[in-house]
Amino acid sequence: MTTQISTLQEYKEAYDQSVKDPEGFWRKEASTFQWEKDFDQVLDWNFEEPNVKWFLNGKLNITLNCLDRHIKDRGDQTAILWEANDPDAPSIRYTYKELLAEVCKCANGLKAQGIKKGDRVVFYMPMVPQLAIGVLACARIGAIHSVVFAGFSAQALADRVDDATAKMIICADYNNRGSKRIPVKKVVDDAMDLGCNSVDKVVVYKQTELPLNWSDDVDISWLDLTKEQSDFCEAEIMDSEDMLFILYTSGSTGKPKGVVHSCGGYMVYTCYSFRNVFQYKEGDVYWCTADIGWITGHSYIVYGPLLAGATTMMFEGVPTYPDAGRFWKICEKHKVNQFYTAPTAIRALMAKGNDWPAQYDLSSIKLLGSVGEPINEEAWHWYDKHIGKGKSPIIDTWWQTETGGIMITPLPGITDTKPTYASYPMPGIQTVLMDADGNELEGNNCEGLLCIKFPWPSMVRTTYGDHERCRTTYFSTFKNKYFTGDGARRDEDGRIRVIGRVDDVINVSGHRMGTAEVENAINEHPNVIESAVVGYPHDIKGQGIYAYIISQDKGVDDDFRKEILAVVTREIGPIAKPDKIQFVSGLPKTRSGKIMRRILRKIASNETENLGDVSTLLNPEVVQEVMDGALK
Ligand code: WTA
Repeated sequence: MTTQISTLQEYKEAYDQSVKDPEGFWRKEASTFQWEKDFDQVLDWNFEEPNVKWFLNGKLNITLNCLDRHIKDRGDQTAILWEANDPDAPSIRYTYKELLAEVCKCANGLKAQGIKKGDRVVFYMPMVPQLAIGVLACARIGAIHSVVFAGFSAQALADRVDDATAKMIICADYNNRGSKRIPVKKVVDDAMDLGCNSVDKVVVYKQTELPLNWSDDVDISWLDLTKEQSDFCEAEIMDSEDMLFILYTSGSTGKPKGVVHSCGGYMVYTCYSFRNVFQYKEGDVYWCTADIGWITGHSYIVYGPLLAGATTMMFEGVPTYPDAGRFWKICEKHKVNQFYTAPTAIRALMAKGNDWPAQYDLSSIKLLGSVGEPINEEAWHWYDKHIGKGKSPIIDTWWQTETGGIMITPLPGITDTKPTYASYPMPGIQTVLMDADGNELEGNNCEGLLCIKFPWPSMVRTTYGDHERCRTTYFSTFKNKYFTGDGARRDEDGRIRVIGRVDDVINVSGHRMGTAEVENAINEHPNVIESAVVGYPHDIKGQGIYAYIISQDKGVDDDFRKEILAVVTREIGPIAKPDKIQFVSGLPKTRSGKIMRRILRKIASNETENLGDVSTLLNPEVVQEVMDGALK
């Protein structure tokens, strides 16, 4: 197992060593895994192209490390503990032995369908154990998984399937979410009609007996895929730098891009970070409430915990069903030790009152985690007081799809915590703040653009099918630095607080979205001439979506608003629906025709005292109109 730091002194030493001798530091951690052939070089890199390779020529299979390796010591320990949406349904457990058997059966089933090393398989599934099993089955045979969050629309799914030229989609029939039952296979059928020409087969995990549209040429049930298969499957031997998965994420321009992670480095870093950040101890029950459709679920529900031999919980439902006590009820039921969730969930539950957590015994909780967006001070204190009872350190973990694992966080019980501060970089992570002119900010008490100046094992390798996009997005803003897109401040003691995106990416309920993507969706409406989308502060969601729309129609009414929401739901999914829509006759633009989002952001945020000089705009007169019509 990778090292587990337990004192401040050890953290400091590990950090220093990781900077002085990164290769030696990571060689030691990597050597704790099972390699089918040892790597012969730790690192080769340049951030120009970029070209980053870790553990060169090492051969491995991540599932041998997630599963087989644990059979001897903890074969009968629970690997995945699943809690259904329905509070009365029994919890389901898979021991490490059982999980290995299920993964092998599925892997053999995939092989029988012609899936082989390097093929892409897209998942569009609710939070059921079969999602984790399927993902691991892909990894077992060297197929590249790409999980698409099951809240995305058919169009968004088709876009991702097409970009990845996936051969197969694995889905479920329905998704049980709270009191709703959402059709999933239906969305896949629609996506198949919209594109997905590369797809040969659709595997359907049936949770219900409800009728489904079925085509025998294409559709195959999960049961038929797996039932005749052996529970032994030889693991495909992968190169350290072979692709493990693609995960689509939003950027400031264009369509979502496929962030690529590779086998060796991702394995080493997710295990190392999981063990240290969550201070996982033998026998603990760990629960991350994320969805596997996002990076948090990949790294800290599936891979990190399983690599570390942990018991990881998966929850099918939502925090407010059947009532706002559900999370806490589950914590009590399973004596959860580490609880990891998003600020948006904390704020939503906080709004339901203190009585809900007060009804449950939360004494098993040792630490609380937060991820995905900045946590505001009020939510931090509520979490601390009502869930952690003032005794469980809060780890505010900052990271990204592209970083693969947690980059900046307090280590619970080891480093201090301060509300709203992600605090300190992990060993191996060389964070820097830059000013706009490209100078590294030295010393403390400063604010700048957050970059990382040295590679780490789980960093993005490329964007699928478009390496140049990876270079321009992350490595061209500052020479020799990975640019995160976030602004941050460093306090007088060197703690880092991540303030938020400085680009045109917004974070709505912890869901990352490109404003350009939402605009493109809105512009699909035939009566929309132009639109501009910005984020504004929202009490629960963190950021809300504010859309300014120029329309051909003079008489804009509620029906038109509804049509806009429908078009966004169709193009992206309900998570991208604007919270506020303002119809305008023009958008403030520079003389070169660029929309002045800075001004629109301020108006949406109701910060109009200091708009700056608008006289140089192409159309200064629209500013007043936009301000007058602003939705409070
Ligand atoms: C934001 C989620 C403040 C940030 C793991 C980042 C955060 C983006 C935090 C990545 C945090 C994530 N404090 N902001 N603790 N964690 N973010 O790719 O803006 O879905 O760039 O990865 O979320 O979102 P992504």
